[in-house]
Amino acid sequence: MKICMIGSGYVGLVSGSCFSELGNHVICVDNNLNKIISLKNGIIPIYEPGLEELIYRNVKQKRLKFSTNLSKSIQNSDIIFICVGTPTNKRTNEANLKYVFQVVSSIKKNLNKYKVIVNKSTVPITTGDKIEKILNIKINKNKFDVVSNPEFLREGEAIRDFMYPDRVVIGTSSKKANNILKNLYLPLTKKTNKYFHTSRRAAELIKYASNAFLATKITYINEISNLCEKLNIDVTDISVGIGSDERIGSRFLRAGPGYGGSCFPKDTRALLSISKKFKTNLSIVKSTVKSNDERIKYLQKRIKEIMKNSFKGKKITFLGVTFKAGTDDMRDASSLKLIPYLVKKGSRISYYDPTGIKSEFNRKKVKYYNNIKDACNNSDLLILHTEWNEFKQLNFNKLNPKKNLKIFDLRNLYSPVKMKKKNYEYYSIGR
Ligand code: UGA
Repeated sequence: MKICMIGSGYVGLVSGSCFSELGNHVICVDNNLNKIISLKNGIIPIYEPGLEELIYRNVKQKRLKFSTNLSKSIQNSDIIFICVGTPTNKRTNEANLKYVFQVVSSIKKNLNKYKVIVNKSTVPITTGDKIEKILNIKINKNKFDVVSNPEFLREGEAIRDFMYPDRVVIGTSSKKANNILKNLYLPLTKKTNKYFHTSRRAAELIKYASNAFLATKITYINEISNLCEKLNIDVTDISVGIGSDERIGSRFLRAGPGYGGSCFPKDTRALLSISKKFKTNLSIVKSTVKSNDERIKYLQKRIKEIMKNSFKGKKITFLGVTFKAGTDDMRDASSLKLIPYLVKKGSRISYYDPTGIKSEFNRKKVKYYNNIKDACNNSDLLILHTEWNEFKQLNFNKLNPKKNLKIFDLRNLYSPVKMKKKNYEYYSIGR
């Protein structure tokens, strides 16, 4: 199949590379010339384990190409995937569809033969209907079908999630388009029967409902962890105890600093604004958003208690600053709110992140070190902010022999019992 991925960001690049790995001819398009030049030179603009090798291999086999020429790429392809960003409009909380509709207007002019137009961007329900309406002019008759195919890739696990999907959701009423996509995904779905065909609107809602459900699950365990702290119960026992009930499921029950990233915060808000538009009260999602927003205050309060409200001149080290491990993505990371708060309180901040220095922080006030030891040197408090493997078996005595070193583990990476035995002043979440 000849495939065009419009938008070479996270979704377009990962999905495009994986489709080429499955033997398709893929062209990834972007209007950012620098990005395309970098990609042509083998420089990958995002951090995603395994992606560089995947791109290298498929470029070498001439199955994967990069271009800024949208018209030509559309004309030469059978399947067009729309993979552009849908950022939150800060004023209305709605997903901003500017980029989606810009792309649609190019597709409209370049329908030289029948094409399946597949929307992978996360868009409000009924966007597929609007795209169809725009494309539906006389000369385009019978030349297209508009399909919704939401993506469920996690950053840091994206290639595995693509190659071994829990499900592939295809929303369309067209038999022809459904057959084309069924064949495209067959290498991934034939063994497990994970191909799910539904209506276009349902597919659009499945994406939002999935992310909002997962965000709610995390928020639920975070609130339960608050109760555990009051009752001297270990929340990780609760996660195991409830998660082993198959109706609940064990994943996404890790208590922590609250959900962040480019998807859950954006999609929960967008779903609320859709529900408002259709006059439906999604009170559970509303509570989730509110509770997660308030989590930062909880973290600040905990740090205040740990530091006994004494911040002036104290050195605080963050191990990891991104929104989770396995990614260089800083969007909605709790460090973005915690670090400025601690700087304001008069602390000196240092950090180490496996994905390098971050432009989000003021270099003069927030110091980056390229190794764990230097970042932790002479620190008063270590904050284990993300769950990278390299943070999981640290020898704190060697890292920082200070007698009253405090450790705040936001990801429950260590056993409180073992840490107590070693005489560390150790704090974690919900335990
Ligand atoms: C999420 C979904 O998991 C993907 O299925 C979806 O495709 C993607 O959004 C998207 O819409 O594009 P991602 O944002 O990469 O993927 O990250 P997750 O691994 O889901 O984590 C989201 C947040 O929840 C992170 O801040 C993470 O630290 C937090 N989390 C996750 C917890 O606090 N506890 C958990 O048990 C799991």
